[in-house]
Amino acid sequence: MSNPDPVPTELSGSAEKLIRGRHATRAFRPDAVPADVMRAIFSLAGAAPSNSNAQPWRVEVVSGAARDRLASALQADHAEKRTSVDVPYSEDMYAQVHRVRRAAFGAELYGALGIGPDDHAARAAYDAESLRFYGAPHAAFLFVTGDGGPRLAADVGAYMQTLLLAMTAYGVDSCPQGLLSFYADTVRAELGLTGGKLLVGISFGYADETAPVNRVTTERAELAATTAFHDCA
Ligand SMILES: Cc1cc2nc3c(=O)[nH]c(=O)nc-3n(C[C@H](O)[C@H](O)[C@H](O)COP(=O)(O)O)c2cc1C
Repeated sequence: MSNPDPVPTELSGSAEKLIRGRHATRAFRPDAVPADVMRAIFSLAGAAPSNSNAQPWRVEVVSGAARDRLASALQADHAEKRTSVDVPYSEDMYAQVHRVRRAAFGAELYGALGIGPDDHAARAAYDAESLRFYGAPHAAFLFVTGDGGPRLAADVGAYMQTLLLAMTAYGVDSCPQGLLSFYADTVRAELGLTGGKLLVGISFGYADETAPVNRVTTERAELAATTAFHDCA
């Protein structure tokens, strides 16, 4: 029996533009995102799917003086190596194929910044500076609630991408920063929070289009390297 409804075989231009239009921004203008736009973005992000619709995310957004204080506290704790990681991280978690992709990305990013592959001091200084949210006027911190286990963290990952796309739809640029999650106690102390596991921080605002770092492009693996279709017509 044939399907009476035509099956779309091409992506609508607007969906493609939205998904491909999102990319990590690492230099921002100081201009604030208007409060009504901010509310619209975070309301839209709440449409993200989650297992049984549990919505196990808690989102803390900082701007203005709170943002400035937090950036300084993050840099101070980074300088003293006072890390506090809720969601374990290790370089060992990556497979060889991931290492190759990460190295290609690193070469692209640090090349755009004029930092050589062996200039560890310059890379470290860039990391330290990134804790000021790459100059973005706002940052959102995504916490996993409940027991904070991998399935709930995956839900918060789905929320993260929905949030990033919602920002893109409203013309707001962003950078997810795993580095911000290495200072979970710092974030909690500065914002007066208890509980939750900090998964990621997201700097956001409006891109400085003149910054060469914002022209970095990233490749993706071929479809066949990540995806198999079993017994598909
Ligand atoms: C969970 C997560 C953590 C990330 N952490 C950082 C980070 O600490 N610093 C940074 O500059 N970019 C970070 N990124 C951005 C990635 O480098 C970027 O998404 C990736 O290279 C692909 O590039 P694109 O986002 O421009 O498509 C992170 C992205 C994700 C999803």
